[in-house]
Amino acid sequence: MTNDLDQMREHMLTAIAASPGLDALEACRVEALGKQGTITALLKTLGKMSPDERQVQGPAIQGLREAVATAIADRKATLERAALDARLASETLDMTLPAEALPAGTIHPVSQVMDELAEIFADLGFAVATGPEIETDWHNFSALNIPETHPARAMHDTFYLQQGIDAKAAGTADEKTTFSLLRTHTSPVQIRTMLSQKPPIRIIAPGRTYRSDSDATHTPMFHQVEGLVIDKGITLGHLKWTLETFVKAFFERDDIVLRMRPSYFPFTEPSVEIDVGYTLVKGKRVIGGAEPDGWLEILGSGMVHRKVIEACGLDPEEWQGFAFGCGIDRLAMLKYGMDDLRAFFDGDIRWLKHYGFSSLDVPTLSAGVGA
Ligand code: DAH
Repeated sequence: MTNDLDQMREHMLTAIAASPGLDALEACRVEALGKQGTITALLKTLGKMSPDERQVQGPAIQGLREAVATAIADRKATLERAALDARLASETLDMTLPAEALPAGTIHPVSQVMDELAEIFADLGFAVATGPEIETDWHNFSALNIPETHPARAMHDTFYLQQGIDAKAAGTADEKTTFSLLRTHTSPVQIRTMLSQKPPIRIIAPGRTYRSDSDATHTPMFHQVEGLVIDKGITLGHLKWTLETFVKAFFERDDIVLRMRPSYFPFTEPSVEIDVGYTLVKGKRVIGGAEPDGWLEILGSGMVHRKVIEACGLDPEEWQGFAFGCGIDRLAMLKYGMDDLRAFFDGDIRWLKHYGFSSLDVPTLSAGVGA
């Protein structure tokens, strides 16, 4: 009997050591230690033995059981480690590969400037708001005090959508809900924000805008940023301070002089256009300088017209505010020195390499928003 046990042990340990995978090992375990297993069957015979016999066979069978159980546990650990090693080897990434061999994209100057604007205005307590690029007549025009008969509508070179034209012809158009044009400015985001948020409001809304216009300084798609503040007791002084603070931070100089010129926009009263002073340095216009050689117009602004506030369901006696709108592409050109707007949207890799930014150049006020 002991001989039989020795033979059994050898046979089992060999099979365990040779099992190629976890499934084979499990089969060995079931065969030896499972409910119907050989060792389990041997353990059951102990009860029928005489005490003397049991004294000899008991420890021998228990010893066999322990040896087999230990061998299975060891083999299991070995197989699992091997499986993990194989997986780690197949999933490695060679971190020493030279990164410059990979094609690296750049951040477009327009995206960079939008990030700079968000950073500057976040510091002044402004949130970023968005609105749809396909707009309704009402949000893009009427609510901004530009009724259908207003000459400003014609001045906007609007792209109208066929679905809106068809709806109008069929008499099913509703100026508040029928999306019928590509927004001609970011100003409709003012309306959407006032309708969806309770004042006080402080937002900027950067985004794409569209007009049917194309030459060296105009592209059919271009970018604007809208600003809106609605609160109590807001004056032109708040507007002036905000814009001065913004322009100084954006161009990263303190010797910036702004000029406010009376102007006209249907959605503001009074309306002002803002010029920034430049100085001539070796024949080039450079933004800034305490004694400007000339002026460049950079944005339109004013106190939000009471009709606009009313159109959004607010009481103009209680709430006032200022707004501004500014071309982002032009800001980028003035800051980073490009002179042809059309190249912004050509997708020319050489231009993007030259004027683009590294994805790691995240603008922060402390490190300089110009990156
Ligand atoms: N929406 C105007 C445009 O596209 C720009 C503008 C002017 C926006 C004055 C404003 C503003 O918010 O107050 O020409």
